[in-house]
Amino acid sequence: MGSGIAQIAATAGCSVKVFDTQEKALKTSEEKLDKVLKRLIEKERIGETEKNLIQGNIQYVQDLDALADADLTIEAIIEDLKIKQGVYKKLEAIQKKEAIIASNTSSLSIASLAASLENPERMIGMHFFNPAPLMPLVEIIPAVQTSQKVTDKIINTVADWKKVGCLAKDTPGFIVNRVARPFYGEALRIYEEGIADVVTIDLALKELGGFRMGPFQLMDFIGNDVNYKVTETVFKEFYYDPRYKPSFTQKRLAEAGYLGRKTGKGFYEYKEGKIDTSKHPELEAGLPDKMLAQQILDRVLVMLINEAADALFLNVATAKDIDLAMTKGVNYPKGLLTWANEKGIAWCVDKMDDLYETFHEDRYRCSPLLRVMKKENQKF
Ligand SMILES: NC(=O)c1ccc[n+]([C@@H]2O[C@H](COP(=O)([O-])OP(=O)(O)OC[C@H]3O[C@@H](n4cnc5c(N)ncnc54)[C@H](O)[C@@H]3O)[C@@H](O)[C@H]2O)c1
Repeated sequence: MGSGIAQIAATAGCSVKVFDTQEKALKTSEEKLDKVLKRLIEKERIGETEKNLIQGNIQYVQDLDALADADLTIEAIIEDLKIKQGVYKKLEAIQKKEAIIASNTSSLSIASLAASLENPERMIGMHFFNPAPLMPLVEIIPAVQTSQKVTDKIINTVADWKKVGCLAKDTPGFIVNRVARPFYGEALRIYEEGIADVVTIDLALKELGGFRMGPFQLMDFIGNDVNYKVTETVFKEFYYDPRYKPSFTQKRLAEAGYLGRKTGKGFYEYKEGKIDTSKHPELEAGLPDKMLAQQILDRVLVMLINEAADALFLNVATAKDIDLAMTKGVNYPKGLLTWANEKGIAWCVDKMDDLYETFHEDRYRCSPLLRVMKKENQKF
């Protein structure tokens, strides 16, 4: 992630220093950037001069002291609170007081990271999406300690870097990693109930829903270990709210080492990094049962809409930013609140109530915001 973020800043004309404790990581980062930029030249997206400028803006350093004069440090190291805090302490000792320290953390609270600083008001979350140079979204997460000046500065920086900034409250999963949970969780639940197999569920979301990848293909792509861990963290952080409960099916795959594309086997089998279609001929055949596919799409979609509505209800972000985040961070075909308007708020409430009626599980509780909006005939 660090390499991608460095590329973005250098492309915007900033002078960048990439620091890593591992020499090999620095070398890989430098080589990767060279490859990426050569490909951009081939595609005629940049010229040789721009490539040289971008590369000329980046220095690779193995000594933290080289960051002494930085105005902004974006930390994207291992996801470990103590290790991150240790690095901030060292940075604070060498940098000026106004220097901003941002973290790309996916799962730690920004408040807990800021707490280790002498001047916690300089800390903020800047959450990029993978691959960072291609995905426009940056979630901007001020902690309770962050000063307004720092937040404003980062909002401007993100805009200068031609990225789409969305402000998010310092809550588990911020916007995207919270709102997207049902895409995986409800698909897994439908599979576990035996309603449909993996391929049918994927085809329903892809072909009827317009999502770029089905949930199981996406879980395999992200890695079942990584995706499971994110769900588990969000679940724990939300005090075990059943809406975020992880799935045994995915846990077993992770335990078995069936991590997905990277190990050659997950929900699907892979050959040279691609799904081995000879093992999954159903994929080619297309959707067998349109009615079943519609039911699957509706169930996953309404759970996603409910999650987005609840994030708005709890002021995690504005409606505009919740929709932007899902389209610009994870390529959803439409913002979920816009989708809710199209389906009708009454449809959403009735679908959630049907699910609750069937299961009597708190997981299927309808967001109070949707309920009020239905009553008052409102739209997002
Ligand atoms: N991978 C993603 O899709 C993604 C997306 C958004 C955010 N993030 C977040 O970005 C951060 C990094 O994730 P990643 O996937 O790029 O990890 P990674 O393991 O690929 O890279 C981490 C780098 O940090 C270096 N490092 C470790 N300890 C260090 C230290 N003390 N000082 C300096 N360098 C150190 C490692 O050598 C390694 O090169 C994490 O906080 C993660 O939550 C990851």
